[in-house]
Amino acid sequence: MNDRPTTILVTGGAGYIGSHAVLALQKEGYEVIILDNLVYGHRELVEEVLKVELIVGDTGDRELLDNLFATHNITAVMHFAAYAYVGESVTAPDKYYRNNVIGTLTLLEAMLKAKVNKFVFSSTCAVYGVPKTFPIPEDHPKDPINPYGQSKLMVEQMLADLDRAYDLRSVRFRYFNAAGADPQGRLGEDHDPETHLIPLTLYTALGKREAIYMFGTDYPTPDGTCIRDYIHVSDLASAHVLGLNYLLKGGKTEVFNLGNGTGFSVKEVIEAAKKVTGKDFTVLKRDRRPGDPPKLVGAGEKAREILGWTPQYAGIEEIIAHAWQWHQKRHGDGV
Ligand SMILES: NC(=O)c1ccc[n+]([C@@H]2O[C@H](COP(=O)([O-])OP(=O)(O)OC[C@H]3O[C@@H](n4cnc5c(N)ncnc54)[C@H](O)[C@@H]3O)[C@@H](O)[C@H]2O)c1
Repeated sequence: MNDRPTTILVTGGAGYIGSHAVLALQKEGYEVIILDNLVYGHRELVEEVLKVELIVGDTGDRELLDNLFATHNITAVMHFAAYAYVGESVTAPDKYYRNNVIGTLTLLEAMLKAKVNKFVFSSTCAVYGVPKTFPIPEDHPKDPINPYGQSKLMVEQMLADLDRAYDLRSVRFRYFNAAGADPQGRLGEDHDPETHLIPLTLYTALGKREAIYMFGTDYPTPDGTCIRDYIHVSDLASAHVLGLNYLLKGGKTEVFNLGNGTGFSVKEVIEAAKKVTGKDFTVLKRDRRPGDPPKLVGAGEKAREILGWTPQYAGIEEIIAHAWQWHQKRHGDGV
């Protein structure tokens, strides 16, 4: 085409999962450019750790996108940029449909114009709603129970149609609970506000919160608390590189769950965090939150079989230990 290097555009690359994916892409020798509006992303991690070009802008900005595709030799797009607060999506659904659906459609239209036809998409297990079978297979009925899950399912449907109409090939990854941090401690999770169990538990261990809450202790699970499938962020990142390689080699549009197939209860996670950190802290019982399914555990065999994905970190203590290393470095001033 021309002598500019082949580049992967990573939207949301200044955020938690996207930044780990950039590390994994760099390890494989890919050139990367990040598009992030920095609403939640961290400029300093891009500048100090990833050291790649950061375009501060929005996926809904068509002029910026056209210019970006015209000036870089982009071969594929990894799309992490989205809003992902389930509760907020219920109270402000318009915000979620605009950012997650319209923003993505704008990006896809710019890709079509630029003749870039490979797309790796961050979907979510929230597309399944309240699951009926375990572990959840990819062909389980989709019935999201909140606008966040709906917004991701809408994009999945658009991708299937765009493939049929324009041969736009995509790999859609439905993640279960992303957790942990770069094992070398370079990157980690830093959401603000934070809603995820492991970082909130570690903030409690650091003395930055007074207590950790268990929402619902009367679920039909062995210890009464909700069960989730925790997947190490570096394993998610490696799956993205494999998904990209698959598309670059001519692979057809596919969808994959990314989970370990093993669940841990809220109580088990908190106990593991106490063990890893060596700290005791206050744990309080609270009522169930509306919309929390008792159990979410995914079948990840398809990604293993088709992509050759082999998650490295299935143990909850190892996942928490990596997160703890990061949180102590990033937030440990008050300890
Ligand atoms: N964290 C999880 O457990 C989880 C689970 C399932 C799916 N996901 C999906 O994975 C993706 C990444 O999640 P995360 O936890 O890293 O979130 P994050 O908030 O850390 O990262 C998202 C990044 O996208 C940026 N962004 C948002 N909207 C944008 C826009 N319109 N234009 C440009 N940049 C924009 C934000 O500034 C942020 O840096 C999201 O699409 C999310 O829905 C996350």
